[in-house]
Amino acid sequence: MRTLRNLLRAAGMDHFLYRDGILHAEDVPVPEIAASVGTPFYCYSQATLTRHYRLFEEALDGLPHLICYAMKANSNQAVLKIMAGLGAGVDVVSGGEYRRAVAAGVPGERIVFSGVGKTGEEMRLALSGGIRQFNVESEPEMRLLSEVAVSMGVRAPVTIRVNPDVDAKTHEKIATGKSENKFGIPIARAREVYAEAAALPGLEVVGIDVHIGSQLIQLEPYEQAYRKVADLTRALREDGHDIRRLDLGGGLGIPYERSNSAPPLPLDYGAMVKRTVGDLGCEIEIEPGRLIAGNAGLLVSSVIYLKHGEGRDFLILDAAMNDLIRPAMYGAWHDIVPVVEAPAGVELGPCDIVGPVCESGDTFARGRPLPPLATGDLVAFRSAGAYGAVMASEYNSRPLIPEVLVHEHHFAVIRARPSYEEIISRDTIPEWL
Ligand code: LLP
Repeated sequence: MRTLRNLLRAAGMDHFLYRDGILHAEDVPVPEIAASVGTPFYCYSQATLTRHYRLFEEALDGLPHLICYAMKANSNQAVLKIMAGLGAGVDVVSGGEYRRAVAAGVPGERIVFSGVGKTGEEMRLALSGGIRQFNVESEPEMRLLSEVAVSMGVRAPVTIRVNPDVDAKTHEKIATGKSENKFGIPIARAREVYAEAAALPGLEVVGIDVHIGSQLIQLEPYEQAYRKVADLTRALREDGHDIRRLDLGGGLGIPYERSNSAPPLPLDYGAMVKRTVGDLGCEIEIEPGRLIAGNAGLLVSSVIYLKHGEGRDFLILDAAMNDLIRPAMYGAWHDIVPVVEAPAGVELGPCDIVGPVCESGDTFARGRPLPPLATGDLVAFRSAGAYGAVMASEYNSRPLIPEVLVHEHHFAVIRARPSYEEIISRDTIPEWL
């Protein structure tokens, strides 16, 4: 059963499939987009974004819930507009994200505000524009939020993010639920901190928040954390708090290496949520980012050169670490495939796939088996829709690359490549020079 499901998933996880040997995004041949916008570019599939959102809807069916898309994964206005249209809420972590969410039409009552360093200004912005809740991460934050709310004559709805001290078994840079991480307050101190929150005049306690990390490929750490949250819910209710909402965070992993990984499905995750916290009568919120956007995006790039090194071949692409930082930053794996499928029987050779930036860290992959490729050929990085464009920079004065959205047989540029003039004119030279 499991194997069959995995096979189905491998076949149907996204809408980037080969047709007649050419990679398509939904019904559009990828080379057609490349010819129109130039490489490199990000390419997203609306059908895949929609499908992934719906998988979570199905998974939580039967429980009162709100799926708050973690827009840090991909915050393009068009992507947010799709999410808003599906009825999603949004998880924001800065005033900039809050503004982007509102600009895309997400109503304040569907925005939750997370993050360890919210400023007074960001609190005011959200309180005046409308907010579902703040996920408060520390006592100083809680006190400031109360002051800001009182000064505005309102009460801020809050959950407190608890740190359950569980090992999420993911990359150290994206684990957040261990006591050594900067996130949340230790769960052991929760009753004390909730007592103070309830006594602060500007706060209204509405629930509990937990988020233990990202790219989780096992359900056990979640299960441990959610059981602790269930116990805490009962304890806080005994203390007289009206705990009516549980924000369970995001973090469900995706299969970056298709031939070799099978993270849990949203449906399995949903069953675990029901099993651990389903009987508490709480409204459930989750904050998935990567699972919604990750496999809904490709990074498409062209080969600049094939260089024969000593004992290894380098495929030098026009995309670089500034466009997709994940391999350099986390040692992350992305499947990299030729856009035009190699004919059957062609021998694959190992290649190091690199970008043009002047750092050895600008290496996407080592020893990948690829068919022979030449200057101008296109390759696609899979699973690049989350934490791709949003983490890009202009290092080496390389312009941010365009983003394209595909819907059936249409495509549109949803962020244009800036001109060099635009980039240079952002700097100003002081009068004394
Ligand atoms: N909620 C909170 C409070 C978070 O901090 C995050 C991610 C999420 C939700 C969404 O997690 P997701 O469902 O996307 O795993 N740049 C890294 C990932 C950083 C994740 C940060 N927090 C990467 O490229 O792997």
